[in-house]
Amino acid sequence: MLLGDHEDSVLPSLKTILTCARRRMRSRQFLVLVALLTFAAFSVFYLRAPPSLPSDTNGFKPPISIPKIPKQLSAGGSTAEAPKSHPPTLSGSHPIWQLVKDAEQDFEKILEHQSKTLEEAVAEYRKRYGLPPPPNFDKWWDFAKAKGVQLVDEYDSIYHTLTPFWGLKPSTIRARAREALGFDGNNLIGALIRNGAVKKINGGREWQEEATKGMMKDFIKYLPDMDLCFNIHDEPRVVVPSDDLSRLVAIAKDEKMPAANAVEKPRNSWSPKPADLTDGSRFEDVKTTRFNVFAHQPTWTHSRMSCPPDTPSRNLEDGPKEDNFDSYAVGELGFVYNQTAFSDICQSPSFSESYGFFDRPNAYNLVHDLFPIFSQSKISSYNDIVYPSPWYWYGKVPYNETADMLWSEKQDKIYWRGSTTGGFSRDGGWRRQHRQHLVQKINAGDQAKILVNRGGETSEDWQVKEVPRSDFKEIFDIYFSYVGQCDPGDCDAQKEFFDIKETAKQEDAWNYKYLLDIDGNAFSGRFYAFLKSRSLVYKLAIFREWHEEWLKPWVHFIPLSLRGDEWVEAVRWFAGETSGKKEAERIALQGRDWADKVLRNEDLEVWFFRLLLEYGRLVDDDRETIGYTGA
Ligand SMILES: *[C@@H]1O[C@H](CO)[C@@H](O)[C@H](O)[C@H]1NC(C)=O
Ligand SMILES: *[C@@H]1O[C@H](CO)[C@@H](O)[C@H](O)[C@H]1NC(C)=O
Repeated sequence: MLLGDHEDSVLPSLKTILTCARRRMRSRQFLVLVALLTFAAFSVFYLRAPPSLPSDTNGFKPPISIPKIPKQLSAGGSTAEAPKSHPPTLSGSHPIWQLVKDAEQDFEKILEHQSKTLEEAVAEYRKRYGLPPPPNFDKWWDFAKAKGVQLVDEYDSIYHTLTPFWGLKPSTIRARAREALGFDGNNLIGALIRNGAVKKINGGREWQEEATKGMMKDFIKYLPDMDLCFNIHDEPRVVVPSDDLSRLVAIAKDEKMPAANAVEKPRNSWSPKPADLTDGSRFEDVKTTRFNVFAHQPTWTHSRMSCPPDTPSRNLEDGPKEDNFDSYAVGELGFVYNQTAFSDICQSPSFSESYGFFDRPNAYNLVHDLFPIFSQSKISSYNDIVYPSPWYWYGKVPYNETADMLWSEKQDKIYWRGSTTGGFSRDGGWRRQHRQHLVQKINAGDQAKILVNRGGETSEDWQVKEVPRSDFKEIFDIYFSYVGQCDPGDCDAQKEFFDIKETAKQEDAWNYKYLLDIDGNAFSGRFYAFLKSRSLVYKLAIFREWHEEWLKPWVHFIPLSLRGDEWVEAVRWFAGETSGKKEAERIALQGRDWADKVLRNEDLEVWFFRLLLEYGRLVDDDRETIGYTGA
């Protein structure tokens, strides 16, 4: 499916069966099984008589979010203390203008401050993390330089993700990897690295295994022997309860990391293969699993477990959901000024009823102990280890320049086509899912808020005005082109409720100046192709990816909130105001240039290399005495 969602949108039960089957069966038996299952699936989808429609197809209840004084904020459950996030003070000029200028200034500073030499990079590393860099950091530096990587210091998310693991013994982490890979139903790709090569890889689709190997090929000789667990689901799966997480982080930050930092002359080499690591020729069978399979069930209660108790999402009462709106949104319309805070689900309990993953994810194998699972994207409160998606590396949604056109030739509209993925819909659950919320709201017949300049040309004063949403219907072209991931009754109800358009080709998107990109079951795989195009990208994303420090909202794309009171103005200003039009083209091309520099396969490899060096140290019994400190 071009412009499609991830292949994960097939029923997980089917996929689970296939994956298990694949390991255990010979290929001929496997083909027969696939044929049978395919036939069964088609019968279920196409032959079953459509049940009667639910009568209630009225509008949605918008998520209620009452702005609130920020309390102590959390960095998505991963650390206990985090800097507070306050809305910027707006002056008279248009909020978008101000957000763009501020973000560009901050980004310029980041660019200017990148380390120029290995010595500087080591010093910067020690300053940021209070640790020596891992062994072979010099090899990483040479690799990054040879590949022409732009940002050599911006890898904080690796540190934040791996910190809790420093609270566990290396042998415990290794044992958990072995345990996870030993049980077929865990839906993991296992990669066993021995003697600088992938000795065995198994458990996923061929393209993903091939891409995962390919991404490591050029640096694998610098990695230690280790077992890696890659999630084959798009959905993340590790959530450690808040109290356990705080204890792990405390052990890491108060004991283990300072101890490693105090070593005067760390050894710049890995330890020999530990005795508990197999020779890598096979996966040891394990009969039990700590992963629970909760596909198609609500996940909010699980997802918020890692949030600190004083965050809004840990409220003990039911009833109105009081988001900490100020932590990420500014002004009455609520432009997103802080994407990190926006995607921090601990601040936004309303996501429990407006986001598909929390309603019923399409696939979900969950564990509450800290297991080392590499996932392609995650929700803030999850403890999966995010790595650059092989989906991108393999070019699953490529950008074809020939089909794109000049900015001036594109239509003045924001465009989106896609499917109802985001969650599985049962008993009307689609009303609580984000894509449906967005398509419904944008095409609704209600009032919308925009900003009008009540001041002069030199002293602008942008004030809120209510207008019929239909006044702007010419600039919105946002529709579903496919209904899926639903019980038959829910599918029918959605086909009835929404105006479903024809399936689109990827090239169709290039006809429009403005492109919407929105999370599906997890991250949206078309984001990079959109950024590389000559169109301006709007992004609504709660899922976090490896690139979160490399791609900046308001500099490379326009961030959107889930509440959506700012959506009309966010398009109207760019499409309709003189200064907005100029900015639109400029930011579109700025995003495109930057994407060409930082989203190449080389960039993904460099980031992955650094992550795997860190992980390699984590599972080394000598992790407190090894490291790189200089020539
Ligand atoms: C954005 O919010 C996060 C907390 O989620 C905070 O750590 C960070 O400092 C904030 N950034 C800015 C620029 O306010
Ligand atoms: C790119 O698009 C052009 C024009 O639509 C087409 O002729 C060409 O085959 C495409 N190239 C690739 C690699 O898909």
